[in-house]
Amino acid sequence: MPETTPAPLNVFEYRDAARQHLPTMVYDYYAGGARDELTLGDNRRAYDRLSIRYRVMRDVSNRSMATTLQGSALDLPLLVAPTAFHGMACEEGERATARAAGRMGTIMILSTLSTTAVEDVVAAGRGPVWFQLYVYTDRDATRDLVRRAEAASCEALVLTVDAQVWGVRERDERNGFSLPDGLVMKNLEASGKPSFPEVEGSGLAAYVNQNFDTSLTWDDLDWLAGLTNVPMFVKGIVRGDDAVRAAEHGAAGVIVSNHGGRQLDTSPATIEVLPDVADAVNDRAVDVLVDGGIRRGTDVLKALALGADAVAVGRPVLWGLAVDGERGAVDVLSMLRDELDTALALAGTASIHDLSPDLVARRNAE
Ligand code: FNR
Ligand code: LAC
Repeated sequence: MPETTPAPLNVFEYRDAARQHLPTMVYDYYAGGARDELTLGDNRRAYDRLSIRYRVMRDVSNRSMATTLQGSALDLPLLVAPTAFHGMACEEGERATARAAGRMGTIMILSTLSTTAVEDVVAAGRGPVWFQLYVYTDRDATRDLVRRAEAASCEALVLTVDAQVWGVRERDERNGFSLPDGLVMKNLEASGKPSFPEVEGSGLAAYVNQNFDTSLTWDDLDWLAGLTNVPMFVKGIVRGDDAVRAAEHGAAGVIVSNHGGRQLDTSPATIEVLPDVADAVNDRAVDVLVDGGIRRGTDVLKALALGADAVAVGRPVLWGLAVDGERGAVDVLSMLRDELDTALALAGTASIHDLSPDLVARRNAE
């Protein structure tokens, strides 16, 4: 990072710095949401509407945020959400992300649509990598992705279920979003689907609408489970009844997500539906994660208190990569860790396992 620029103090300042570092097309692709971007904004505003009813006179001299997820010991309850095309943010791309997640003692969820092959991402990192899967109408291509992810030692599969058709991101349509020269979807080279079609608007939208399977039903979760021995998470859930269905079809966990507001605009803010989902599967051995709009340590505390076993962040890591590669991603994750530590202390909770729903209330602000 150039010496003259003051170092970002928080995730929002990384966003602003990333805007300076990235071409408009790339920044807009990372930042954008579907249609009017109402859900994109709601994800964030919903956290701001919540207050923390902290306890006092609790010994918080020794604090812990460590946790375990699917057998992986994590130093913090915050994962890297799957986001595509890290090669647009920095030279090292997903390798930098994997190294940063490993240094922070957490999990990287790698997108199907990465600019680095899954084998190379796992080899670059030191921590656990989960593989996020899109189901292609070409089921052979899908099988190949599952097989390669497992062979590369990805420790879980994350099936994304909220993107069978593409949420229209008007920024991408306006910018004619295409992958910069030299970048391809490396995991899809073997099946001959590594690049976007040449179109006027968003090349990604055209690619997805030509390739993703729109016929997915819960039976397909059974089909996928038959392809692999690793645990399966279902990402893109906003309803308790769907979380129960996922559990009934063998999911080890769900990720409460609206794709960062990039799919169905006016879907609910994830923090608002998290309690219902957590309650619905409370009696089942199902991990509940949440993502969307998490930018502060207090957001992490609120999500854990409202029933999440862990959270995930998408854009913040991209902004860190854009500003300073692996170091930037580490810095962003470290900021959130340090902010969570302060929040735990001031909330009177020495451990994340002391968090409970009564700590969170709706603010009376306008
Ligand atoms: C995403 N997301 C996403 N999800 C997924 O399942 N597969 C993917 O390839 C991608 N790609 C992607 C790219 C970009 C640029 C963004 C911003 C998001 C959604 C992502 O996993 C996550 O749900 C949201 O990003 C979480 O919201 P925040 O943290 O970005 O607000
Ligand atoms: C997105 C994809 C790649 O949201 O999931 O851009």
